[in-house]
Amino acid sequence: MPKKRRRKEDRTITKCLFPAAGYGTRFLPATKATPKEMLPILTKPLIQYGVEEAVEAGIHTMAIVTGRGKRAIEDHFDRSYELEHQIKGTSKEPLMNEVRSLITQCTFSYTRQVEMKGLGHAILTGETLIGSEPFAVLLADDLCTNGADSVLKQMIEVYEKYQCSVVAIEEVSMDQTDKYGVIAGNLIDGTDDTYRVTDMVEKPAPKDAPTNMAIIGRYILTPDIFDILRETKPGKGGEIQITDALLDQAKQGKVIAYKFKGKRFDCGSVDGFVEATNYFYEKSKREN
Ligand code: UTP
Repeated sequence: MPKKRRRKEDRTITKCLFPAAGYGTRFLPATKATPKEMLPILTKPLIQYGVEEAVEAGIHTMAIVTGRGKRAIEDHFDRSYELEHQIKGTSKEPLMNEVRSLITQCTFSYTRQVEMKGLGHAILTGETLIGSEPFAVLLADDLCTNGADSVLKQMIEVYEKYQCSVVAIEEVSMDQTDKYGVIAGNLIDGTDDTYRVTDMVEKPAPKDAPTNMAIIGRYILTPDIFDILRETKPGKGGEIQITDALLDQAKQGKVIAYKFKGKRFDCGSVDGFVEATNYFYEKSKREN
């Protein structure tokens, strides 16, 4: 039986913000003139996987924070009449079906981060597209996959229960903590995957890390985060960090960390990118 579609007014999270302004220096020279988010895993750019995950979670309004040299993202989520005319009726036409369907189902709006002052600053730049409602944030270089519900969909369920900001976490090996925001928290009674966050540290050295529970690139944020970000001073690396702003909410007991079900690939690193490529290649072989 087809799933009953929720009415628009029933949905709590209707917008997804994609901070996509970073330089992607780990992928130079590939990212010199091509946005990191457009690098493909097989034939699909990273950001398309992200948009598909958002759609799977019931979100159809995509808000993308871009920067210089990122126009290819806008072109990707637009019709390409000349190309479509060229391949019409050929065996290649179905290759465009997925992206065409996204263009039909979703609206895409863009704003530019003029100076790359960090993820927190990129999220604040997105305020103009989000307004004053809770919203999802998806970092497209963290590619997530799950057989059943997408990670974002799982997180929206958590948000609906606790009505505060939610971060997705994963246990990493202790020598990796300096690559992530790391949380400490107390398991909420009756759950084995949901924590009330008590502390958060951005990229701590292993000896300073409160735990090995690392935040990955999926967030649900309440809109008060914008006022907090406006006041947040540059932190680690001289950048405005979302982790620092979230700590402010956590001190009021208003951040939940959720250990998601599924698999994540860190496609912002060459190792993770290759791992994802192999995984999706094997998967496609099995399916065809
Ligand atoms: P990263 O830390 O992966 O930085 O950003 P990066 O520039 O993309 O990549 P490297 O480290 O130079 O290889 C995490 C996410 O935050 C966004 C990035 O686009 C990425 O999605 N971001 C980061 C911004 O949008 N603006 C910023 O100022 C910084």
